[in-house]
Amino acid sequence: MRKPLVAGNWKMNGNLSSAVELASALKDSSLPSLVSTCDIVLFPPALYLTMVVSIINDANFSWGVQNVHFEKVGAYTGENSPAMAKDLLCAYTLVGHSERRTLFGETDNDTIQKVQALLSVNVIPVLCVGETLEERDAGQTLARVEQQIRIVLDALPDPDNLNIVIAYEPVWAIGTGRTATPDQAEEVHTSIRDILRGYSQLLSDKTRILYGGSVNMQNAAILFAQPNIDGFLAGGASLKAAEFIGICETVRQ
Ligand code: 13P
Repeated sequence: MRKPLVAGNWKMNGNLSSAVELASALKDSSLPSLVSTCDIVLFPPALYLTMVVSIINDANFSWGVQNVHFEKVGAYTGENSPAMAKDLLCAYTLVGHSERRTLFGETDNDTIQKVQALLSVNVIPVLCVGETLEERDAGQTLARVEQQIRIVLDALPDPDNLNIVIAYEPVWAIGTGRTATPDQAEEVHTSIRDILRGYSQLLSDKTRILYGGSVNMQNAAILFAQPNIDGFLAGGASLKAAEFIGICETVRQ
């Protein structure tokens, strides 16, 4: 019932010519034929989004930005608004990525406001949650993830009609080559599904819960075999066309 989703977070990597090359390789691959069974979403650097979209526009992929400000408009030098993302036909936007939280001091309150602002312009937030290694070692994984999700969901009305994606990204697995085991990931995904059920059965049934953290074409299949893993948010692997295509092919099967 949930359509799988594979997203590539390019972060602040590459240059204009590598972005064009990557987008062209994805468009000219098997991926456009997969979109009927798997949503494919690209998050390039915002400055390259228009160029990337001009290439992938008729490939039926979706796209988004990696961050927005929560205000509608104003003197916020360096920021982009949710309405600007909507202008560029972004279907999704990342919110609360651990790099935003740890490197740029983004708070839970910022995350709440960004999710609200995106929903108000009908852009689907991809809410990123996950524990640090210290939290995992202290046995706090499920509590930490629950807190990050509840603080946002408690601020939103009408869970039945909420259109959101959740990405579980253990901080210790991001960019480290260390992936959560299928059991570790599934334990957290099941817990997230249970938390969602507390708000609404429909929300729990329909919400895609992605795994992110050193996903590649080798480990994607075993992770995707878990019942509550609905797809992936890939970082490093999304910068290599063959890897990203390999992940998407896995999810289709
Ligand atoms: P890696 O796939 O490079 O570990 O990054 C994951 C991530 O942060 C995606 O948002």
